[in-house]
Amino acid sequence: MSYTFDRIAPGSLVLVTGATGLIGSSAVITLLDRGYKVRAATRSVKKQRPFQQHLEDRYGKDVVEFVEFTDYLDPASWDAILKKALTRTFLAAAARAPQVKSVVFTSSRIAVYAPEFGKDLNLTVNNWADYFVDQARVVKENDPIAPVLVYAASKIRGERVAWDFIKEHMPHFAFNVVLPDCVAGPAANPTPGVYSTHTWLNDLFLGDANGYAVGFMKPAARFVDVRDTASIHVAALLEKQLDGQRLWAAAHKFTVDDILAAWREAFPGREILPDFKFEGQPDINIDDEQSTALLKAFKGEDWFSLKETVVANVQSVL
Ligand SMILES: *[C@@H]1O[C@H](CO)[C@@H](O)[C@H](O)[C@H]1NC(C)=O
Repeated sequence: MSYTFDRIAPGSLVLVTGATGLIGSSAVITLLDRGYKVRAATRSVKKQRPFQQHLEDRYGKDVVEFVEFTDYLDPASWDAILKKALTRTFLAAAARAPQVKSVVFTSSRIAVYAPEFGKDLNLTVNNWADYFVDQARVVKENDPIAPVLVYAASKIRGERVAWDFIKEHMPHFAFNVVLPDCVAGPAANPTPGVYSTHTWLNDLFLGDANGYAVGFMKPAARFVDVRDTASIHVAALLEKQLDGQRLWAAAHKFTVDDILAAWREAFPGREILPDFKFEGQPDINIDDEQSTALLKAFKGEDWFSLKETVVANVQSVL
């Protein structure tokens, strides 16, 4: 299959929601590098001034515009219901806008599966982790697993709502979904938020053995560089042959100890945490042939390696 990435002409305007987050900010860069104009939606334009300045310095003032979504994402009320309403509202607005050619929705691997120690999995993009929705419904509020279940359920419901809308309304635009696994790598936004795997990984590098990173990678499954995740989004946006697809962004199998080993190799003089040696690392296999072909055609190279990713991740805290 030969890809041409010409669904949308360069110079056209692309709206990026969550444009200041880890994946969103990298998507903004990828789009600007390809000659698109970007309307970056964020909660607070004022807080994002450093990112805006950075983009204006690099690409010029006329190619990037920041807009505020006022009642968008109050983190405290960012629950399944809001997400459901937001997804529908957004897609309904897009369906009324004839100029919208293509929409890419960021889901999560947690909408497909969650890794467990000792449980190997062979997965396809047709798998859904719907059991989380049932579990989230009955979990006790003070159960430590509750936030994870609610997050998972909100991701699943959010993506289900999107597909239901597409099936029901058959809008004029192409619609594709990206399923990122554990995302790491450099933050395109010079003031990245605290709640991202990028910052968690920096904490791990700086010696925090009890931070979010380890909890999140217990067990680890697959990781992907944020730049590749952005490439998959933009490739899906631009490639005419893609419509109605779920696409993996989940490059390589890994464990938390692989990350520590990569840092030890790259920074020989530096003290790195000892290995965690978790037992029962699951073997997670996925049908990522389409994503890999898409990525190679889009950027002309394979996925970033784990070492490239985790070394690039920590550049800001060296
Ligand atoms: C996954 O697929 C491989 C190759 O077909 C097979 O050997 C393995 O048993 C499968 N694993 C699971 C957990 O189904």
